[in-house]
Amino acid sequence: MAARRYRIALYPGDGIGTDVTAEAARVLAGVSRRHGFFVDTTAVPWGCLWAREHGGHPVPADFLEHLRPFDAIFLGALGMPAMLPDHVTLAPLIRMRQEFRQYVCLRPAVLMPGTESPLADRKPGDVDMVIVRENSEGEYTGAGGCTHAGSPEEISVQVAVHTRRGVERILRYGFELARRRRQCLTMATKSNALNHSMVMWDRILDAVRGDYPDVQAGKVHIDALAMLFVRTPEAFDVVVASNLFGDILSDLAGALVGSLGLAPSANINPDRDCPSLFEPVHGSAPDIAGQGVANPIAAIRSAAMMLDFLGETDAAREIERAVADNLRHGSVRTPDLAGTATTVQVGNDILQRLSD
Ligand code: NAD
Ligand code: IPM
Ligand code: MN
Repeated sequence: MAARRYRIALYPGDGIGTDVTAEAARVLAGVSRRHGFFVDTTAVPWGCLWAREHGGHPVPADFLEHLRPFDAIFLGALGMPAMLPDHVTLAPLIRMRQEFRQYVCLRPAVLMPGTESPLADRKPGDVDMVIVRENSEGEYTGAGGCTHAGSPEEISVQVAVHTRRGVERILRYGFELARRRRQCLTMATKSNALNHSMVMWDRILDAVRGDYPDVQAGKVHIDALAMLFVRTPEAFDVVVASNLFGDILSDLAGALVGSLGLAPSANINPDRDCPSLFEPVHGSAPDIAGQGVANPIAAIRSAAMMLDFLGETDAAREIERAVADNLRHGSVRTPDLAGTATTVQVGNDILQRLSD
């Protein structure tokens, strides 16, 4: 039988993206050896430094074609606002999500033993949710424009695009996921003010919920939902949200479980006709870049999500177990978790704990 082999585009990007992807790549190499498959990584050098040598473009014009043949893309983080405007640097990420039809973004948030929530009196397991973020439309389509830039007459229009097809498929994905979890789905809405788009989201929820009678489904306005994440995070299981709402909720959820440095994500093309993309929720953290102290766990967990997606579920579970051991043990942790360890020391500790 031919050995299982996966071609992964490794896209470290900027700032701490480089440090955390290096640790995730070491962990991937470690588990793949032990589980008898090969991870062929091909690094791409794109990002802000690359842009400096290439006319201010963070990626080559044909970057999507370069990435298309891969089984998956593993990304660190993009963005160095002091070098290049964020909307230029981040445009390739949004394009990958859209053009590779990665319309589902999964962002799990679990309060783990050994970590501390900033919320008082929360114990492990009190937060255990997955944000299912619509990842291809909404506020992120780039539709709009700006005229008279810089003048008092300046006008900018940013159009949010929501389609019935896009909303229905993300809701159904959320319902299917809820069925395999605690059968509870919450949809973020704002239909009291967004009288076209979010009223349509509400209508589509009502139209599809009947197909999932075993799932308890409800909707909450996004402002109240932000409040309830803090007040009663235990009430949430699967949270389905539009692109921008999901973006904001996922940083909040990361904070609730102890650090954004723990929060993984998967940008999934469920049809598998283009590569999916795995990356931490966090950004390039310019405030700590170059110090070697970024928490690599979000990236390492994202690597586990990638292995799950590729079908290497035993190896994925092994990574999750090793991360859980590291957190429970608590002696090797980065400063965001009140430790003194470096990124590499945390990577070493997790590598050592694989299969323990
Ligand atoms: P950020 O997520 O980079 O950082 C927010 C805060 O969290 C910072 O204080 C940072 O030090 C801390 N933090 C983040 N990840 C950490 C980790 N692994 N370990 C320890 N601490 C961590 O968000 P920001 O400051 O708003 O953005 C910085 C840059 O990253 C910007 O250019 C932004 O556009 C970009 N960004 C990129 C992505 C991405 O590539 N997917 C995501 C978010 C932000
Ligand atoms: C994320 C990031 C991106 C987003 C930015 C950097 C474009 O915040 O992945 O959460 O808004 O989707
Ligand atoms: Mn974000």
